[in-house]
Amino acid sequence: MARKFFVGGNWKMNGNKESIDKIIEFLTAGPLDPNCEVVVGCPAIYMDYVRSKLPAAIGVAAQNCYKAEKGAFTGETSAAMIKDVGCEWAILGHSERRNVFGESDQLIGEKVAFALQSGLKVIPCIGELLEEREAGKTTEVCFRQLKAIADNVSDWTRVVIAYEPVWAIGTGKTATPEQAQEVHSQLRTWLAENVNAQVAESTRILYGGSVTAANCRELAACPDIDGSLVGGASLKPEFVQIINATQ
Ligand code: 13P
Repeated sequence: MARKFFVGGNWKMNGNKESIDKIIEFLTAGPLDPNCEVVVGCPAIYMDYVRSKLPAAIGVAAQNCYKAEKGAFTGETSAAMIKDVGCEWAILGHSERRNVFGESDQLIGEKVAFALQSGLKVIPCIGELLEEREAGKTTEVCFRQLKAIADNVSDWTRVVIAYEPVWAIGTGKTATPEQAQEVHSQLRTWLAENVNAQVAESTRILYGGSVTAANCRELAACPDIDGSLVGGASLKPEFVQIINATQ
Protein backbone atom coordinates (compact mmCIF):
# COMPACT_ATOMS: atom_id res chain seq x y z
CA MET A 1 0.00 0.00 0.00
CA ALA A 2 1.42 3.38 -0.97
CA ARG A 3 1.92 5.82 1.84
CA LYS A 4 1.18 9.40 0.81
CA PHE A 5 4.23 11.60 1.24
CA PHE A 6 3.76 14.02 4.15
CA VAL A 7 5.59 17.22 5.03
CA GLY A 8 4.90 19.05 8.27
CA GLY A 9 6.21 22.47 9.18
CA ASN A 10 6.71 23.12 12.89
CA TRP A 11 6.97 26.85 13.40
CA LYS A 12 7.62 26.39 17.14
CA MET A 13 7.44 29.71 19.06
CA ASN A 14 8.32 31.87 16.07
CA GLY A 15 6.65 34.51 13.97
CA ASN A 16 4.23 37.38 14.09
CA LYS A 17 1.39 38.35 11.76
CA GLU A 18 3.78 40.03 9.36
CA SER A 19 6.14 37.05 9.01
CA ILE A 20 3.24 34.59 8.99
CA ASP A 21 1.69 36.52 6.08
CA LYS A 22 4.93 35.92 4.14
CA ILE A 23 4.77 32.17 4.85
CA ILE A 24 1.12 32.08 3.75
CA GLU A 25 2.15 33.94 0.60
CA PHE A 26 4.83 31.45 -0.47
CA LEU A 27 2.67 28.46 0.45
CA THR A 28 -0.24 29.87 -1.54
CA ALA A 29 2.00 30.61 -4.54
CA GLY A 30 3.62 27.14 -4.40
CA PRO A 31 3.24 25.34 -6.62
CA LEU A 32 2.98 22.42 -4.18
CA ASP A 33 3.10 18.78 -5.21
CA PRO A 34 -0.54 17.58 -5.01
CA ASN A 35 0.77 14.14 -4.03
CA CYS A 36 2.19 15.55 -0.79
CA GLU A 37 0.07 16.11 2.30
CA VAL A 38 1.13 19.38 3.94
CA VAL A 39 0.41 20.48 7.51
CA VAL A 40 1.81 23.47 9.37
CA GLY A 41 2.09 23.55 13.16
CA CYS A 42 1.61 27.11 14.27
CA PRO A 43 1.50 28.80 17.67
CA ALA A 44 -1.94 28.41 19.28
CA ILE A 45 -2.57 32.13 19.30
CA TYR A 46 -2.28 32.31 15.49
CA MET A 47 -4.16 29.13 14.55
CA ASP A 48 -7.46 30.86 13.80
CA TYR A 49 -5.69 33.51 11.73
CA VAL A 50 -3.61 30.99 9.78
CA ARG A 51 -6.56 28.67 9.15
CA SER A 52 -8.59 31.57 7.76
CA LYS A 53 -5.84 32.57 5.33
CA LEU A 54 -4.19 29.32 4.19
CA PRO A 55 -5.50 27.32 1.23
CA ALA A 56 -7.84 24.58 2.49
CA ALA A 57 -5.59 21.84 1.12
CA ILE A 58 -2.93 22.70 3.71
CA GLY A 59 -3.69 21.40 7.19
CA VAL A 60 -3.05 23.36 10.35
CA ALA A 61 -1.77 21.69 13.52
CA ALA A 62 -1.57 22.77 17.11
CA GLN A 63 1.88 22.22 18.63
CA ASN A 64 0.34 20.75 21.78
CA CYS A 65 -3.08 19.76 23.07
CA TYR A 66 -4.16 18.96 26.64
CA LYS A 67 -5.77 15.69 27.65
CA ALA A 68 -9.01 17.06 29.06
CA GLU A 69 -12.10 18.46 27.44
CA LYS A 70 -12.09 21.75 29.36
CA GLY A 71 -11.59 23.17 32.80
CA ALA A 72 -9.06 24.65 35.18
CA PHE A 73 -5.89 24.11 33.13
CA THR A 74 -4.40 27.57 32.83
CA GLY A 75 -2.37 28.07 29.68
CA GLU A 76 -3.53 24.92 27.91
CA THR A 77 -5.40 24.41 24.63
CA SER A 78 -8.13 21.78 24.20
CA ALA A 79 -8.95 19.57 21.24
CA ALA A 80 -12.37 21.22 21.07
CA MET A 81 -10.74 24.66 20.72
CA ILE A 82 -8.46 23.39 17.96
CA LYS A 83 -11.47 22.02 16.08
CA ASP A 84 -13.53 25.14 16.80
CA VAL A 85 -11.07 27.26 14.80
CA GLY A 86 -11.23 24.79 11.92
CA CYS A 87 -7.99 22.88 12.56
CA GLU A 88 -7.65 19.10 12.57
CA TRP A 89 -4.16 18.23 13.75
CA ALA A 90 -1.97 18.24 16.86
CA ILE A 91 1.76 17.65 17.15
CA LEU A 92 2.25 15.80 20.45
CA GLY A 93 5.29 14.88 22.52
CA HIS A 94 7.75 16.99 20.56
CA SER A 95 11.24 16.70 22.02
CA GLU A 96 10.98 20.29 23.26
CA ARG A 97 7.80 19.35 25.15
CA ARG A 98 9.66 16.36 26.58
CA ASN A 99 12.97 18.01 27.37
CA VAL A 100 12.13 21.68 28.08
CA PHE A 101 8.71 21.16 29.68
CA GLY A 102 9.32 17.74 31.23
CA GLU A 103 6.49 15.84 29.51
CA SER A 104 6.63 12.12 30.30
CA ASP A 105 5.89 9.15 28.06
CA GLN A 106 2.77 8.61 30.13
CA LEU A 107 1.43 12.16 29.70
CA ILE A 108 2.16 12.06 25.96
CA GLY A 109 0.32 8.73 25.71
CA GLU A 110 -2.67 10.23 27.50
CA LYS A 111 -2.62 13.23 25.18
CA VAL A 112 -2.53 10.95 22.13
CA ALA A 113 -5.49 8.96 23.46
CA PHE A 114 -7.53 12.05 24.23
CA ALA A 115 -6.77 13.89 20.98
CA LEU A 116 -7.76 10.83 18.92
CA GLN A 117 -10.95 10.32 20.93
CA SER A 118 -11.73 13.98 20.29
CA GLY A 119 -11.47 13.46 16.55
CA LEU A 120 -8.09 15.09 15.90
CA LYS A 121 -5.31 13.68 13.76
CA VAL A 122 -1.99 13.48 15.61
CA ILE A 123 1.73 13.69 14.92
CA PRO A 124 3.39 12.11 17.96
CA CYS A 125 7.16 12.64 18.07
CA ILE A 126 9.89 10.36 19.36
CA GLY A 127 13.67 10.45 19.27
CA GLU A 128 16.81 9.83 21.27
CA LEU A 129 19.20 12.28 22.92
CA LEU A 130 22.83 12.40 21.80
CA GLU A 131 24.04 10.62 24.94
CA GLU A 132 21.44 7.90 24.38
CA ARG A 133 22.64 7.37 20.80
CA GLU A 134 26.26 7.33 21.95
CA ALA A 135 25.38 4.77 24.62
CA GLY A 136 23.85 2.52 21.96
CA LYS A 137 20.35 3.09 23.33
CA THR A 138 18.65 4.56 20.26
CA THR A 139 16.25 1.72 19.61
CA GLU A 140 15.57 1.09 23.29
CA VAL A 141 14.55 4.75 23.78
CA CYS A 142 12.57 5.00 20.56
CA PHE A 143 10.72 1.73 21.18
CA ARG A 144 9.87 2.80 24.72
CA GLN A 145 8.49 6.14 23.48
CA LEU A 146 6.66 4.46 20.61
CA LYS A 147 5.06 1.89 22.92
CA ALA A 148 3.72 4.64 25.19
CA ILE A 149 2.09 6.14 22.09
CA ALA A 150 0.95 2.93 20.40
CA ASP A 151 -0.75 1.68 23.59
CA ASN A 152 -3.00 4.74 23.33
CA VAL A 153 -3.89 4.74 19.64
CA SER A 154 -7.52 3.99 18.88
CA ASP A 155 -7.33 4.78 15.15
CA TRP A 156 -4.02 4.41 13.30
CA THR A 157 -5.39 6.08 10.15
CA ARG A 158 -5.19 9.38 12.05
CA VAL A 159 -1.60 8.96 13.25
CA VAL A 160 1.61 10.12 11.56
CA ILE A 161 4.73 9.32 13.58
CA ALA A 162 7.71 11.68 13.59
CA TYR A 163 11.19 10.35 14.36
CA GLU A 164 13.30 13.31 15.41
CA PRO A 165 16.71 12.50 16.89
CA VAL A 166 17.16 15.26 19.45
CA TRP A 167 20.80 15.80 18.51
CA ALA A 168 19.69 16.73 14.99
CA ILE A 169 17.06 19.30 15.96
CA GLY A 170 18.07 22.88 15.28
CA THR A 171 21.73 21.92 15.20
CA GLY A 172 22.37 21.73 11.46
CA LYS A 173 23.48 18.11 12.11
CA THR A 174 21.07 16.08 10.03
CA ALA A 175 21.04 12.33 10.49
CA THR A 176 22.52 10.76 7.39
CA PRO A 177 19.92 9.07 5.19
CA GLU A 178 21.44 5.73 6.31
CA GLN A 179 21.12 6.60 10.01
CA ALA A 180 17.53 7.78 9.56
CA GLN A 181 16.50 4.87 7.34
CA GLU A 182 17.93 2.39 9.85
CA VAL A 183 15.77 3.74 12.69
CA HIS A 184 12.68 4.15 10.47
CA SER A 185 12.93 0.56 9.35
CA GLN A 186 13.31 -0.59 12.99
CA LEU A 187 10.25 1.45 13.96
CA ARG A 188 8.23 -0.13 11.16
CA THR A 189 9.32 -3.60 12.26
CA TRP A 190 8.31 -2.72 15.83
CA LEU A 191 4.85 -1.72 14.56
CA ALA A 192 4.55 -4.99 12.62
CA GLU A 193 5.50 -7.05 15.67
CA ASN A 194 3.60 -5.09 18.30
CA VAL A 195 0.56 -3.71 16.47
CA ASN A 196 0.05 -5.48 13.15
CA ALA A 197 1.40 -5.76 9.63
CA GLN A 198 -1.25 -3.53 8.10
CA VAL A 199 -0.50 -0.66 10.51
CA ALA A 200 3.23 -1.09 9.90
CA GLU A 201 2.70 -0.94 6.16
CA SER A 202 0.31 2.03 6.10
CA THR A 203 1.55 4.34 8.88
CA ARG A 204 3.68 7.22 7.76
CA ILE A 205 6.95 7.79 9.61
CA LEU A 206 8.47 11.25 9.15
CA TYR A 207 12.06 12.26 9.77
CA GLY A 208 12.75 15.55 11.58
CA GLY A 209 15.99 17.31 12.47
CA SER A 210 17.73 19.97 10.36
CA VAL A 211 15.85 19.09 7.17
CA THR A 212 16.57 21.63 4.45
CA ALA A 213 16.07 22.02 0.71
CA ALA A 214 19.62 20.70 0.33
CA ASN A 215 19.14 17.36 2.11
CA CYS A 216 15.39 16.64 1.75
CA ARG A 217 15.64 14.63 -1.47
CA GLU A 218 18.08 12.02 -0.28
CA LEU A 219 16.09 11.56 2.92
CA ALA A 220 12.83 11.29 0.96
CA ALA A 221 14.37 8.64 -1.29
CA CYS A 222 14.77 6.20 1.63
CA PRO A 223 12.14 3.45 1.55
CA ASP A 224 10.89 3.88 5.13
CA ILE A 225 11.00 7.69 5.24
CA ASP A 226 7.55 8.98 4.31
CA GLY A 227 8.21 12.69 4.64
CA SER A 228 9.64 15.20 7.05
CA LEU A 229 8.82 17.38 10.01
CA VAL A 230 10.63 20.63 9.44
CA GLY A 231 11.46 23.32 11.98
CA GLY A 232 13.63 26.26 10.94
CA ALA A 233 13.36 25.70 7.20
CA SER A 234 9.54 25.68 7.35
CA LEU A 235 9.66 29.41 8.04
CA LYS A 236 11.48 30.06 4.78
CA PRO A 237 10.51 29.84 1.08
CA GLU A 238 12.72 26.72 0.75
CA PHE A 239 9.89 24.87 2.56
CA VAL A 240 8.19 24.66 -0.86
CA GLN A 241 11.19 22.70 -2.20
CA ILE A 242 11.02 20.37 0.81
CA ILE A 243 7.32 19.74 0.11
CA ASN A 244 8.24 18.96 -3.50
CA ALA A 245 11.13 16.65 -2.53
CA THR A 246 9.81 13.64 -4.41
CA GLN A 247 9.01 15.44 -7.67
P1 13P B 1 14.77 21.87 12.78
O1 13P B 1 14.28 21.52 11.39
O2 13P B 1 14.83 23.33 13.02
O3 13P B 1 15.99 21.11 13.13
O4 13P B 1 13.61 21.35 13.78
C1 13P B 1 13.12 20.06 13.63
C2 13P B 1 11.93 19.92 14.51
O5 13P B 1 12.02 19.92 15.72
C3 13P B 1 10.62 19.78 13.84
O6 13P B 1 9.63 19.44 14.75
